[in-house]
Amino acid sequence: MARGYDLLGNIAIIEEESRAKERARARELLATHRQVSTVLAKAGAVTGIYRIRKVRYVAGERNYTADYRENNCLFRFDVRKTFFSNRLSFERTRILGLVKPRERVMVLFAGVGPFAIEIAKSHPKTTVRCIELNRNAYNYLLDNVRLNKVHNVTAQCGSVKRLSGDNEGFADRVVMPMPKTSLSFLDDALRVSKKKSVVHIYTFGPAESVVGDTKMAIREHAKRNGYKVRFLLDRVVRPYSARETEIVLDYAIIRK
Ligand SMILES: C[S@@+](CC[C@H](N)C(=O)[O-])C[C@H]1O[C@@H](n2cnc3c(N)ncnc32)[C@H](O)[C@@H]1O
Repeated sequence: MARGYDLLGNIAIIEEESRAKERARARELLATHRQVSTVLAKAGAVTGIYRIRKVRYVAGERNYTADYRENNCLFRFDVRKTFFSNRLSFERTRILGLVKPRERVMVLFAGVGPFAIEIAKSHPKTTVRCIELNRNAYNYLLDNVRLNKVHNVTAQCGSVKRLSGDNEGFADRVVMPMPKTSLSFLDDALRVSKKKSVVHIYTFGPAESVVGDTKMAIREHAKRNGYKVRFLLDRVVRPYSARETEIVLDYAIIRK
């Protein structure tokens, strides 16, 4: 049975199989998808603080720079040096639909800019700020801001821990797409928030307990830091591994 693949515009990334099966799969993809000019194979898991995956060349043009379109925006990035997942496109569309015209939005863990730029493009009167640690991703983010001609996005390169203080009290809405460690950045989400803000936090965990565990961690943080929290929505984003599911939880921070 044919296994899954990720289509990132001109680049298709297939699951690792025997070399013969990979070549056959690549031929099939090159023949059936006109926009695909390169086929790569996954060569490991997404790892490290930058959330990067090793990939291996299989067929077509020997190129690692993707040009990927989503929600009327174009994203360019090197698939070897930056994180990007087309499987988050539903989430990006969902959040676009929640943003109000003049909101101030803070995207922590911004990667090459998909959440930030799509929000900025659909809502030109918003003010969007981003923080990203990986210098390569940050440089692509700046390129993507230019490519998409958005004038309402600014970005900082560095750790959220170090830079959240520069953005104190800024945001009506905070996006936290770093499921691996997001719960250790609740202080930063609070710091960048206005008195009332909405936070979208992504986390991983066992399907049966991840929502409850995430809510408990946020409730305890709220108690320790003297703010009220209202949970607005939780949903499964995707099954992540045999044991872990990725979820998103939307919650409101309410301070006096
Ligand atoms: C899962 S990726 C999400 C990227 C992007 N938002 C997207 O949806 O494509 C998480 C990103 O957070 C960045 N990151 C990890 N730790 C960070 C930190 N402490 N401060 C800022 N960015 C960080 C990684 O380099 C990576 O690009």
